[in-house]
Formats: sequence, structure tokens, C-alpha cells
Amino acid sequence: MRTEVATIGDDEARLLVHRAGGTPVYAYSREALRAAVRRVRAASVRDAHIYYSLKANPHPGVVNFLSTLVDGFDVCSTTELETALDTGTPPESVLFTGPAKSRAEAAAGLAAGVAVTVESPSQARLFADVAAELGVTGRAVVRLNTPYPPRAAGGPVSPNQFGVSAADYDEVAAVLRGSPVELAGLQVFWGSQYFDADVILAARKAAWERAAELAARRGGPFGFLSLGGGIAMPWRDGEPDVDWAGLGAAGLAPVRDRPAEVVACEYGRSVVGPAGSLITTVLDVKVIDGRRYVLVDAGMNHVMIASRLVAGSGRGEPSVRAVGAGGAVGRAHVTGPLCSQLDVLAEDVPLPEVVVGDLLVFSGVGAYGPSFSPAGFLSRDPVREVVH
Ligand SMILES: Cc1ncc(COP(=O)(O)O)c(C=O)c1O
Repeated sequence: MRTEVATIGDDEARLLVHRAGGTPVYAYSREALRAAVRRVRAASVRDAHIYYSLKANPHPGVVNFLSTLVDGFDVCSTTELETALDTGTPPESVLFTGPAKSRAEAAAGLAAGVAVTVESPSQARLFADVAAELGVTGRAVVRLNTPYPPRAAGGPVSPNQFGVSAADYDEVAAVLRGSPVELAGLQVFWGSQYFDADVILAARKAAWERAAELAARRGGPFGFLSLGGGIAMPWRDGEPDVDWAGLGAAGLAPVRDRPAEVVACEYGRSVVGPAGSLITTVLDVKVIDGRRYVLVDAGMNHVMIASRLVAGSGRGEPSVRAVGAGGAVGRAHVTGPLCSQLDVLAEDVPLPEVVVGDLLVFSGVGAYGPSFSPAGFLSRDPVREVVH
């Protein structure tokens, strides 16, 4: 199996631009979303509930469509919470995550009846306090701190600020025990953008074992356990693909001795990344010292993940093609319209001859797009988004 990235034909690209009223426009493919959910489900622990993390793409049309395919949502703000609930998904299937919630966010989560993650003793006290004040009961999912595994064998693990340290777990459990908020489950989110099945499977196994140990200590399974997600979004040309076969084979294994009634995997980028294309219009073409620059109307204010700010230089380039262009293929640097040297979307990529007004389509950019980009920079118009 391969990660199939949605492609848009020339005519379809032109029509989508008309439909959206112009460029730049993100187009999210329902068919590709459906295929992606199928793919991650087959790559997860058998019978796992699949949660979609809105942080990767909170577009209401995308979330609405995904509500028909996934089992729940991971949200990280009150706005994401409302988007998830607006799909008609029951609150029991929504997990309000985030390392440090404000009092207002704690109240919103508890009032909505969703499960809330708790990441420290003081956050546990906050939830206990707010639930008592509101006169409600609540469900807490304790996130366990875990260093993120190395991307390459022998590399360093990555320490991080997320979750409850092993030393603090008992205190968190004690605070919740004396409160209206039940300790309903655990979350072990251990990182993102991993291709290697061995790394992913080892992280899942470690999470499972920690949960089993804590379940044994408390004398019974938890209601819920999130084993994290971690599956990568291959979106740069030449990048290795996810080892779907390795993950799929493991997913077929029978599951015994569950430490929780519901075991979930939470995914963002691997669901929406392959489904999204960004259609842009060429605004200018010029050659400087032998380098061809193609300037388009989307910039890092719309697609920061492709810019030098995030991707750096020489780390592989996003897949980009020209609509209807037939000229000889040469090399080009595709840059945005912003006055920043970082506003480079694809460096030294093969591209046919294009002229002002031509359309360029970036593929596989459906995750961490508009909501992850500095939209306010230069006070330019927001990017359009359509689901097709
Ligand atoms: C707690 C949590 N869940 C889910 C995700 C989504 O991860 P990804 O988009 O890599 O699948 C993240 C990403 O940061 C996260 O922190």
C-alpha cells in the first residue's frame, strides 16, 4: 500500500477556482479523506477507535465529512470543540486536549460533557474546582509524559513538556479521586511524523504496557486509552513512504488483556495531508542570475509548512505541477508574494514553462495549512478553502 495523494486534473482545477471565486484556494478531496481513514484504520490496533485531531485541519466542511468516517475527535480549543460538536458527534466521543487549559477552557469542556485531558496536579485541581463550581461531574483523561522516540536508530529521544510526569501521577489520581471528575482514561501521545513501522509499533507497545501497569495498580481497566498516532504525512517529493504494510500486519494481531475498554489512536496529518491541494495563480516569472523564479499568489501566510521557515532549505520539496502548461520542463524556484526571503514554497523543482495567469497546484498539503500559517502577516486576504 502507498500513501495516495489526491491529484486534481486540469479541468477540475480550473472549475474549482471558479467555484471558490479565485485563488489561492485549498481543495480538500472527500474521496481522499475516505481513503486516508481506511488506511489509518488498517494501520491501527485492531478495533481501535479512530480519533481525528482538528489541529491538523479544522475546516468545518472537512470535519463534518470526517464525522461520518471516524469514531471521535481530538480538539484543542473552545472553537475546535464547537466545530466538533456541530457535526452531531456525541460529547462522549470528543477529547479536549492541550497541555495548559485556562479556567474558561476547563469550564467549556466540563459544561459540554466531553472528556478533558489533565497534564499536571495543578491542572487536576483546576478541573476539580471548576466541576464543583459548575455542579457537574466530569471525565478526565490523564496524559502521561513520554519522551518522543528518535527518528533514526541511535538518535536522541526528545524530552517535552507534555503530560504528567511519572512522579506526579499518584498526586493527580488522588486529586481526581476526591473530586467530581472521574479518572476515566489515559493518553500517551508520543510524537508525530514517523514513517518507520518499528518505531511506531514500539511506541504503541510501550504505551500499552504503561497503561496496563497503571490499570493493574488501580485494580481494573480504564474506560479509555489513547495510544497516540504518530503516522507521517509524506508530502515532499522523494520522501520515503510510511511502512503501511508493516503497520497493517501488526494491526491484524488479536488484542488481548486490554488496559482500557476503548482503545483509540489519534491522527491528524495522515488523514488530511494527502487529501489537500493548494491551487495558486502565477503572478510573475523572472530569471535572476540564471535562476528562474515563478511567483505565485499563495505565500507562507497560507502554507507555512512548505516555506523555508519550517522546511528549511534542501530538505525535499512539495510536489507542484502546472495546469495545462506544455512547454519544456526546466528548473524553477516557486516563491510567494510576500516580502520575506523565507517565502519560498518549492526550491529548484522541475516545472514546465509557465506564464502569468497559469495555475500551479501543490499536492499533499491538506494538513497544518491555513490554521498553522501566520495569516496576519502583511494583512493580506485569507486563503479560500473548498471540499470537493
Ligand atoms: C495530543 C495530540 N494529538 C494528535 C496530534 C496530531 O498529530 P499528527 O497530525 O501528527 O497526526 C498532535 C499533534 O501535535 C497532538 O499533540
